[in-house]
Amino acid sequence: MWDKLVHGFPGSVFEEEHRGECVPEYSEPRGVDIRVENLNKSFGDLHVLKDICLDIKAGETFSIIGPSGTGKSVLLKHIVKLVKPDSGRIFIDGHDIFAEKPKDAAREYRYSMVFQTSALFNSLTVGENVGLWLREKRICNEGRIRRVIREKLRLVGLEGKEDMMTSELSGGMKKRVAIARSLAMNPDLILYDEPTAELDPVTSDELARVVMNLKEDISLTSVIVSHDLNFAFHLSDRVAMIHDGRIIEVGTPAELKASENPNVKKFIYTTTKGITGS
Ligand SMILES: Nc1ncnc2c1ncn2[C@@H]1O[C@H](COP(=O)(O)OP(=O)(O)OP(=O)(O)O)[C@@H](O)[C@H]1O
Ligand SMILES: [Mg+2]
Repeated sequence: MWDKLVHGFPGSVFEEEHRGECVPEYSEPRGVDIRVENLNKSFGDLHVLKDICLDIKAGETFSIIGPSGTGKSVLLKHIVKLVKPDSGRIFIDGHDIFAEKPKDAAREYRYSMVFQTSALFNSLTVGENVGLWLREKRICNEGRIRRVIREKLRLVGLEGKEDMMTSELSGGMKKRVAIARSLAMNPDLILYDEPTAELDPVTSDELARVVMNLKEDISLTSVIVSHDLNFAFHLSDRVAMIHDGRIIEVGTPAELKASENPNVKKFIYTTTKGITGS
């Protein structure tokens, strides 16, 4: 289960005693920019990512769309260092994330990934799930942890639901609890892999609103992988389409919809069944 909770936080801080309510590194999120340069990755003979180049701005909500099996999840896993590239580099706020870390490096960026399966502990309450990481790593004192839990649940529209059992929640609520748990670490960067998988259209819509509202409340960069085009177009500042391991188009939702690239047009047409909406 723990390997499902992908969080990045410098480990050494937990060993030291701290006097305030929280460790000093538990600061406000700052939003980071991401630059992917000529990234290549193969698994055996399968060349999955081909010369990927991307620039994601600090504070942006950026979606990566494309057909199944084209490397979207693999790309996301590179950004959180779960997978290493064969060649190419990734810079976050100008730091090469695969390079040896200099001792005097600026504070590391914090990231959190929301997985397709919400990966919550069903035997715990909603509040316990959200506060799990803060308690486990002893990031803050108990009083502050309770306040953080309340605040993060409010951000995802689940105010006052601390004491509900996770097993009693609907799929959409579980997803929101998973987001609140990710937010508990004040991430600079939050990544979602297929957030609307298994959700009905109304619940997907609610989730889109939650993700959009977060942007107004906190400064963080969001990267979303989805083949739900309506969802991605609705909430993203910009979208990249990946096809056969290559980025074939990047732009605002309006630019993607107006793309002349035949593969983009075909993907949009088939996944929206020709319903282009506004
Ligand atoms: N660890 C791995 N070892 C071998 N092959 C892998 C590994 N991870 C991914 N692949 C392969 O890389 C290709 C791209 O996988 P990826 O999961 O990124 O696709 P995707 O675009 O996210 O698809 P979906 O939309 O279905 O989630 C697939 O053919 C997959 O089988
Ligand atoms: Mg995937």
